[in-house]
Amino acid sequence: MSTNPISTRRIVFGLDTQIVGVNITYQESMPSTQDEAHSVEDDDPEGMVFITDEQTEGRGRDGRTWVAPPGAGLLLSVYLRPDATTYAKLGMVASLAAAEAIAAVTGLPTTIKWPNDLLVNGRKVGGVLVEGHFFGEVPHHAAVGVGINVNWDTIDIPEAPYVPTSLSRELGEPVDRNALAIALLNHLDRLYLAAQRGAPIHDAWRARLSTLGQRVHLAGSGPERDALAVDVTPDGGLVVQDAAGGQETVYAADVTLSHS
Ligand code: BTN
Repeated sequence: MSTNPISTRRIVFGLDTQIVGVNITYQESMPSTQDEAHSVEDDDPEGMVFITDEQTEGRGRDGRTWVAPPGAGLLLSVYLRPDATTYAKLGMVASLAAAEAIAAVTGLPTTIKWPNDLLVNGRKVGGVLVEGHFFGEVPHHAAVGVGINVNWDTIDIPEAPYVPTSLSRELGEPVDRNALAIALLNHLDRLYLAAQRGAPIHDAWRARLSTLGQRVHLAGSGPERDALAVDVTPDGGLVVQDAAGGQETVYAADVTLSHS
């Protein structure tokens, strides 16, 4: 039993949104909030939120699992119906919203490791998973999932591709999950509306990226290679430069990246 239970009433009361949070479904346990978002009916409105205390089949990017002890994380997915242009920006929108929410609620310095890992003090505190269902090239809907380690002592696993942490570990005290959910959904709504209007969110996202200026290792598309991350494109691609000065743009769907 969590000492900081999720309260949908409290979350709804704190929302100041147009789309995100049109309704909120909480269950103590779900296989994955992403599956709930994908099972929304066509005549339901976009913006529905699915939030849980425990996932039995939580998933992350690149086929990884997402594990968190019951009642200790923020685990939610939002059902959206973006057009193709907005769909392409959802990773940027969600990671920026989550980073801004963490910074606002905790005061912790929060950055984004390209494309959308959430870092505090250089350690991974959460991540974003965007999954789309398409009719050909046209998105039918997106499930935007956010997982944040809030109130538990993460264990350092030497072979893990990143060092995990939690907000309570970095802050030295527990963090209110409802306050974090409210901030996240409010920021997500604002940035989603901005992306739909074509307003620039790229600069704010770029400013939070910890990856630029770092040496990175790229795998999964072509030969494995080291490069220097020098910039990001407005559509979220990472511009990398090889030792000879040649530049290319890589995309999250095509490569996995680790700091070398
Ligand atoms: C990553 O860093 O690989 C992304 C992790 C995303 C995890 C969240 S938790 C809520 C939602 N439901 C899932 O099964 N995954 C996302």
